[in-house]
Amino acid sequence: MIRNQWYAVLDSKELRKNKLLGITRLGEKLVFWRDRNGDIGCLFDKCTHRGKGRILSNNMVQCPFHGFEYDTSGKVTKIPAIGKKTLVPYRYKVNAYHAVDKHGFIWIFWGENKDEYPPIPFFEDIDEKFKYDTLIDHWPIHYSRVIENQLDVIHLPFVHANTIGRGCRTLIDGPIVKWTEKELQVWAFMRKDDGTKPKKPEELPKPKHDALLHFRFGNIWQNRLANAFRIFAAFVPIDEENTIIYLRLYQKIWRLPVTGWIITKLANRIGNKRILRQDKRVVITQLPKKTKLKIKENLLQGDSPVIEYRRKRKELIEKNNI
Ligand code: FES
Ligand SMILES: [Fe+2]
Repeated sequence: MIRNQWYAVLDSKELRKNKLLGITRLGEKLVFWRDRNGDIGCLFDKCTHRGKGRILSNNMVQCPFHGFEYDTSGKVTKIPAIGKKTLVPYRYKVNAYHAVDKHGFIWIFWGENKDEYPPIPFFEDIDEKFKYDTLIDHWPIHYSRVIENQLDVIHLPFVHANTIGRGCRTLIDGPIVKWTEKELQVWAFMRKDDGTKPKKPEELPKPKHDALLHFRFGNIWQNRLANAFRIFAAFVPIDEENTIIYLRLYQKIWRLPVTGWIITKLANRIGNKRILRQDKRVVITQLPKKTKLKIKENLLQGDSPVIEYRRKRKELIEKNNI
């Protein structure tokens, strides 16, 4: 996992008011909560005193062993054994991550604490006019495999033969892959095999429309099926072998309150779920569970989005995971 990136780690609705949530994300046991001001706390769930795991009890961030209490910065605010008049020394603190609630997700900046953080890398073109529904699914595989599946443009006629891959368009021209300052963009061109070779990306005309697939580090992606209709995913790393995918359908075609909500929900819970299941069946069998730039695989020209993702991932790990 790459340090010093923003990661969407929870749907905002999963973190209720007055409720502490102890969960594993990015291989670490963390505790999340909303404080009185609406700020989000995210701390290492291990007490600084004598290492008790799960420092939450009675809906307070209070270690149940000797009663130390914590604030959102990870500082101990109260040590009952030294009395309320004694100042708590600075060394009594645990690691905390900067956390915010935005775009319907809880995000953490997984890395060093800073005075100023980079902006949250959400897609600017998904605004409040969209309605959305979220589907949450656990996959027993490293998140790199789950991301690569959503960048894989040659699996559709096989994995999704009876859904989005109908029509035997098995030959792939390009694809065209481009990095912008913020994201990886992919244009895919599938066609029936007419005996000609796949065209190289440079042989293809410059695309006039926006890219189909967009991926942003640390962990978000969108399939821009139409300006008013998007499939969005956050690939949330639990640990080296487990990922939770938060799959959203965003649409602003049907905007009436009840009808819009029903259509969005049904399309996500039935249509998208079916497609996701088709992917999951295949992806969770891939070995090794975690990918890197150089592994024993025989890749094709059509795998270039996956190769680009791996290349950039390696670059970011070398820069940030020191
Ligand atoms: S171990 Fe947590 S207060 Fe002592
Ligand atoms: Fe798929």
